Amino acid sequence: MVFVFRFTRLSLIILLAASGLSAQEANYDESKVPPFELPDPLVMEDGTEVTDAETWGEKRRPELLALFTEHVYGESPPRPEDLPIEVTVVDDDALGGKAIRKEVTVWFLGEKTGPSMSLLMYLPQIARPVPAFLGLNFGGNHSVQPDPSITLNAGWFRNNPGKGYVDNRATEESRGSAASRWPVEMIVDRGYALCTVYYGDIDPDYDDGFENGIHPLFDEKSEGERPGDAWGSIAAWAWGLSRAMDYLEHDEDVDAEHVAVLGHSRLGKTALWAGAQDERFALVISNNSGCGGAALSRRAFGETVQRINASFPHWFCDNFTRYNGREDELPVDQHQLIALIAPRPVYIASAAEDRWADPRGEFLSGYFADPVYRLLGAKGLDRETDDMPEIDAPVDTGTIGYHIRSGRHDVTRFDWEQYLDFADRHFAR
Ligand code: GCU
Repeated sequence: MVFVFRFTRLSLIILLAASGLSAQEANYDESKVPPFELPDPLVMEDGTEVTDAETWGEKRRPELLALFTEHVYGESPPRPEDLPIEVTVVDDDALGGKAIRKEVTVWFLGEKTGPSMSLLMYLPQIARPVPAFLGLNFGGNHSVQPDPSITLNAGWFRNNPGKGYVDNRATEESRGSAASRWPVEMIVDRGYALCTVYYGDIDPDYDDGFENGIHPLFDEKSEGERPGDAWGSIAAWAWGLSRAMDYLEHDEDVDAEHVAVLGHSRLGKTALWAGAQDERFALVISNNSGCGGAALSRRAFGETVQRINASFPHWFCDNFTRYNGREDELPVDQHQLIALIAPRPVYIASAAEDRWADPRGEFLSGYFADPVYRLLGAKGLDRETDDMPEIDAPVDTGTIGYHIRSGRHDVTRFDWEQYLDFADRHFAR
C-alpha cells in the first residue's frame, strides 16, 4: 500500500493539541489529517496474505463481513420465510403515457397484516424485463413525483428537521418535493425501471431505543442492554433494500440480474452496506455517503466517528462507539466495505462543497479497494495515481467509478447521468 503512516493514539493527541483542534471540532485542513495506516483488505486477521480469488471468496470476504457486522453496523436478521406482497396500483398511463407506475406492498411478518413497506415503481413502456435502479427515499414515495395519485406513506415523517424529530405526517404539499433528486423521466427514457421505498416504512429515523420500525419485530425480547453488535438503523434500512430485492426477483417486468442499488448520504451508507452483504445487487452507487459510508474513517476529516455516533446514536451498532476518537483501532476501514462489493461495479460520487462527507476520503476508499478488484480479474479504478480527480471529470472507465461534481451535498441530474452511463456500460446494453 502506498499510503502508509504509523498512527498512535498519542500522536493524535499531540496532533490535536498542536493544531488547537478540540476533539469536537471538525477538521477541514488536509495538512491536519492524522497519519494513519489502513488495514489491508488482502491480509487476513491472522496475517495470511490473500493471493487468489478462492481464498478471498471463502475466507477473507466472510471475515471482513463479520468484522463490519460486529464493529460497525450490527447483525441483521435473516430473510423471513414468507414475505407476502400485494400489487395495489398499476397505472398504464404514468408520466404522460411513457411509463407504467406500480405500487407494491411487502409485509414483514409473514401475513398481510402488521408492518409493511410500500414500493413505488416506474417502468418504461418498452419490451420488458428491464434493468432497474432501487433506492430508499427520505421524503416519502410521493416526494419523488408531483403525481397526486401516489399513495402517501403512513407513519413518521421528518418534515420538520429544524424543530427536532417530531411525529409529522406526509402532506399533500410535499408531493414532488424531492423530484430533482429522482429524474424519473430520464431513467425511464434510458430504458430502466426505478423502484423506491420510503426509509421511514422500515425504521423511523430517530433514536427511540429501537422501539419502533422493524427492530422490535425481530429482536429477542430481553431485559437489560442491547448487545454491542445489535443492528442499528443503517442495517435495518439495508435489510429493507434486500427485502425489496426479494420482491424484484419475482417481478416479471424487472431483470433481477441487473438491479443497481443506490442511495444518498445516510442512505448512501445504507446502499453500500446492502450491496456489500447482498450479492444479488449487480451494481452499487454511493452518492455523497461520507462518514460510515465511502469516506475513510481514519482520515477524521469533516464528520468523524465520534461526531456521527454522538449525533445519530441509532445508526450504527453500539460497538462502533468504541472507536470514537480512536479510528486507528478499528479493525476495518471503509475501503474494505467497497472491496466487499468486488468484483461487482461500484460508483462513488462526491460533491466539491460537501467537505463534511470528506470527498478525498471517499475517493481514496475506491482507490484502496482497487487491489481486490484486480485480484478478482476486474478492472478496478481506472486511475494510476491517488491525486484527486478534476471536478466534474468522472473517472468511470473501470469497475470502480468515481466523480467529484461541483456544488453541494445533493443528488443532481449530472450524478444520475453518470450512473446511467455506468450502468449502460456494465449491464452491456
Ligand atoms: C448528516 C450526517 C451525515 C449524513 C447526512 C444525511 O449530515 O452527519 O453523516 O450523511 O446527515 O444523511 O443527510
